[in-house]
Amino acid sequence: MTLRHYLIENDLTADEFRQLIKRAQELKTKTQQGEPYSPLAGKTLAMIFEKSSTRTRVSFETGMTQLGGHAIYLSPNDTHLGRGEPLEDTARVLSEMVDLIVIRTFSQRAMANFASYSSIPVINGLTDYCHPCQLLADMQTFFHHRGDIMGKQVAWVGDGNNVCNSYIITAKLLGYHLRIACPTGYEPDAELVSQAGDHVSIVGTPADACKGADLVVTDVWSSMGQEAEQLIRKEAFAAYCVTPELMALANSDALFMHCLPAHRGEEVSAAVLDGRQSVIWEEAGNRLHAQKALMEFLLLAGK
Ligand code: CP
Ligand code: NVA
Repeated sequence: MTLRHYLIENDLTADEFRQLIKRAQELKTKTQQGEPYSPLAGKTLAMIFEKSSTRTRVSFETGMTQLGGHAIYLSPNDTHLGRGEPLEDTARVLSEMVDLIVIRTFSQRAMANFASYSSIPVINGLTDYCHPCQLLADMQTFFHHRGDIMGKQVAWVGDGNNVCNSYIITAKLLGYHLRIACPTGYEPDAELVSQAGDHVSIVGTPADACKGADLVVTDVWSSMGQEAEQLIRKEAFAAYCVTPELMALANSDALFMHCLPAHRGEEVSAAVLDGRQSVIWEEAGNRLHAQKALMEFLLLAGK
């Protein structure tokens, strides 16, 4: 079996991405019906987290348990990573012992380097560059409610951050159009925008982004690692809050998503986050099912 990693959305083909979404929904139904399914019995997942996490950690750990396997949480504080053992060496050691690794870290380049030393599949649990597991769950949620996202209009309001980059990569992969409104100086990765061609436009205002949208998405103004910039960002992003007025410009059946954690009254008003168009709880829950489908794919596809 060829070694596959999932470090960025287009490590999957569009067909594989759609197949995983379908499988995630099937696995969700199995779980809801209480049907046991443990194809990963005897397998172990190592989870390296160099940043905080609620959803990613709990969904991977629970997902592995439900599939019959076991997960080990590794933080830099409790391992030799925090004492300077190189990531490259850690990748080779873990490859001798476990079957799969998820890593949340800062640099995408460091993650790719880690993966190049690993002889087992590596999953990106978030870097400063992208958050590909989030997009599997978000797309699963959209497809479930509205069908295939190809040809749909998606609005991104706020920081051109890791999650925004992931929406850009996925726009090209799955064929939707993404309109991004962000303050000057906080634009997403320029190379990704240019690679996405007609699938992505940078627009002037949040209203321009939301007009006629089928899906409106935002994220925090300050991501993990940007704590020192919080005050300056609060000022820069003051006009980038998804309010009911903005949602009213979108299509009447538009959905609202947020990867969470959210700050009510900053990037989104409570009325939207907790409102009728918001699918945030289902979106968070789908992390579990989408990542179970991903782990099954990386460990068992072709077997
Ligand atoms: N959305 C997301 O990845 O959440 P966590 O930071 O809690 O894992
Ligand atoms: N942009 C956020 C996403 C958290 C899931 C961050 O990187 O902190």
